[in-house]
Amino acid sequence: MIKSIQIFALALALFMPQTLMAAEAPTISEAEGPIKIINLYELEKQASQKVNKGAFGYVEGGAEDEVTLRGNTLVFDKKQIIPDGLTGLEGVELKTRFLGLDLPSPIILAPMAAHGMVHKEADRATIRGTHKAGTIMSVSTYSSVLVDEIAQSAPEAPFFFQIYMSKDSGYNEFIVKRAKDAGARAIIITIDAGTPGNRESDLKNNYNYSSPTPNVMIYYEGQDMTQSQARALRKVGFSGEDIKFIKSVSGLPVLVKGIQSPEAAEEAIKAGADGIWVSNHGGRQLDGAPASFDMLPIIAKAVDKRVPIVFDSGVRRGTHVFKALASGADIVAIGRPALYGLILGGSEGVNDVFQHLNKELTTAMILAGTKDIEAVKQNRLFDPEK
Ligand code: FNR
Ligand code: LAC
Repeated sequence: MIKSIQIFALALALFMPQTLMAAEAPTISEAEGPIKIINLYELEKQASQKVNKGAFGYVEGGAEDEVTLRGNTLVFDKKQIIPDGLTGLEGVELKTRFLGLDLPSPIILAPMAAHGMVHKEADRATIRGTHKAGTIMSVSTYSSVLVDEIAQSAPEAPFFFQIYMSKDSGYNEFIVKRAKDAGARAIIITIDAGTPGNRESDLKNNYNYSSPTPNVMIYYEGQDMTQSQARALRKVGFSGEDIKFIKSVSGLPVLVKGIQSPEAAEEAIKAGADGIWVSNHGGRQLDGAPASFDMLPIIAKAVDKRVPIVFDSGVRRGTHVFKALASGADIVAIGRPALYGLILGGSEGVNDVFQHLNKELTTAMILAGTKDIEAVKQNRLFDPEK
């Protein structure tokens, strides 16, 4: 009987169309080593060849028509950097400080689920990569590895912890304290994902997010609760009270992520936010929302330097980092490109993505005559429409 099943399986494998087999193969990367980067768009294409189609679609995709996803990157072309070679520059300096941390450049990692869906070493490799780059990793509530284990994978590496708040406030208190004990330097509260966006690539690929989420399950250990039941307790809407609660139970600086209007920024600052994270979740949530970079100067004007601003969504070039800094951001975060680096080169690949952006930013700064990050922030971009 067993033998006939084996023969049947072999026959099926031989006659199954190759494309179908490839689509179903549970390919996960085990790569570790330096990667060659021409630019981050090429990197996306290369990474797509190395992992399972469903997992890649989940990472790459955006909501519905992906108008916001595309807009996030295209929008940077609306503003231009004026070259200036008459400033007597001898070189440029990228280093900066953020929440008391010294950083070699103003680029950090945004929180993301799914590292373990694309790379065997998952978030462990990612934090080793951000450590090599000297930057900050933001660890998601939905990281594939428990926050303690991520911290232990690079004990000196600074990291933030991002919370998807639960309706169960016992859980909220438990997980931020756990993250703090593990060494988190700040808590990020994400407010733009009360429900997941409609991502059609997941439907097309019949892809269900099935990765373990140990930062959720650890609280429910010993109870009769599945991953999806625990995740379904996620809070839907947020208020200033949530910010106050997380600040008081964690005793850490709190950044509010997913701010897309001056009113929401004001509300967050009133509730005690220590930083505003301007983001539309990389176009994965509300399709038809403005490009994140379009909202940045409006929000920065309202924030008026009361607290620092982190910016993300759509950043693929050093010039995009430059333009975000010149439009009110203090720090810029990247999402997907770091996962492409992880897929192609593990921790080295993650480091290479940051080094690549640093290199592009250095070139832009020299050609624009801006000697340091402060000068970039003061640079006036050219808007041909005005
Ligand atoms: C995300 N993002 C995200 N944000 C968050 O606060 N918690 C999370 O768990 C996740 N998970 C997640 C998974 C994947 C696969 C992606 C691509 C993104 C959003 C992320 O923090 C960030 O806002 C965007 O990725 C920024 O846009 P770019 O750089 O990917 O264009
Ligand atoms: C995402 C969720 C986890 O963007 O925030 O996939």
